[in-house]
Amino acid sequence: MLVRPRRNRRSPGVRALVREAELSPEHLVLPLFVQEGNATATPIASMPGQARLTIDLLVEKAREALSLGVPAVEVFPLVPEAQKDARGSESANASGLVPRAVRALKQALPELVVITDVALDPYSSDGHDGVVVDGRVDNDQSLPILAAMAVAQARAGADVVAPSDMMDGRVGAVRHALDEAGFTDVLVCSYCTKYASAFYGPFRDALESAPRAGDKKTYQMDPANVRECAREVALDEAEGADWLMVKPGLPYADVIRFVRDASSLPVAVYHVSGEYAMLKAAAERGFIDYERCLIESLTCLRRAGADIIFTYGALDAARILRAQR
Ligand code: PBG
Repeated sequence: MLVRPRRNRRSPGVRALVREAELSPEHLVLPLFVQEGNATATPIASMPGQARLTIDLLVEKAREALSLGVPAVEVFPLVPEAQKDARGSESANASGLVPRAVRALKQALPELVVITDVALDPYSSDGHDGVVVDGRVDNDQSLPILAAMAVAQARAGADVVAPSDMMDGRVGAVRHALDEAGFTDVLVCSYCTKYASAFYGPFRDALESAPRAGDKKTYQMDPANVRECAREVALDEAEGADWLMVKPGLPYADVIRFVRDASSLPVAVYHVSGEYAMLKAAAERGFIDYERCLIESLTCLRRAGADIIFTYGALDAARILRAQR
């Protein structure tokens, strides 16, 4: 036999030399859930190992991330029911939970990259990402609200705002509003190809943010589609996005590759709550090894073309990768 692929697998050293995709903590973003109060961590039942944190504990968790080499966090709020309304007004409150959390994070950890989510669902009494008017999610009425929310987050010190709402034109609306307010250096990470996925279930438990009626299929993408991504990529590029995100992760590896090949912008992927929960649940039952399956999942996302990976397993992965060195 002249050709023996196994020669390139014969030892750890040879395998290291020919390895294609690399995973390290600096590619990871840790999503965090923030709640009102003090010194309280409320575990999320469907996401073992994750909790909603009050701002003081949020800062400590972010400090841990940095010390493990994870450079960034994204912040999601649990908004008290009494503050929710049809237009999600609380989202633009400069002293709301997210702006306070962002200020605390940047004050304690100036080098931390702080990312904020731009969408109405945690703030809306309808649980939708845009404003519901006459039973429909109204695209154009949502845009100024989303833009005001992004500006409030930037004013608090967010480095990156991440519109996850999937309204048409929102990247441009957010970019214009940021620039007008003087935040030309704040990045926009567009959730560019975000699918109407059942894998977001545990996240909606964590934030009590599930839609009160209907589903998100009139704005989030159909899981059956990939060609359609070309339009979303072209629009987001034209509207000034700095990063393009694919979401969810592993079941959409072909979408990551598609977006990677369609654009020269950095590509992020969100390894979402349901994907994390599946790993945890199967491991709890002894069916799989959590640590090895986590590292494999994240490595596969890098191989598929992701530059940046948002994952609830960021700290676990960073610890595992360090121990392997
Ligand atoms: C809100 C938002 C969602 C997620 C991130 N931002 C939920 C949704 O769109 O319903 C999901 C993240 C996850 O499942 O980990 N627009």
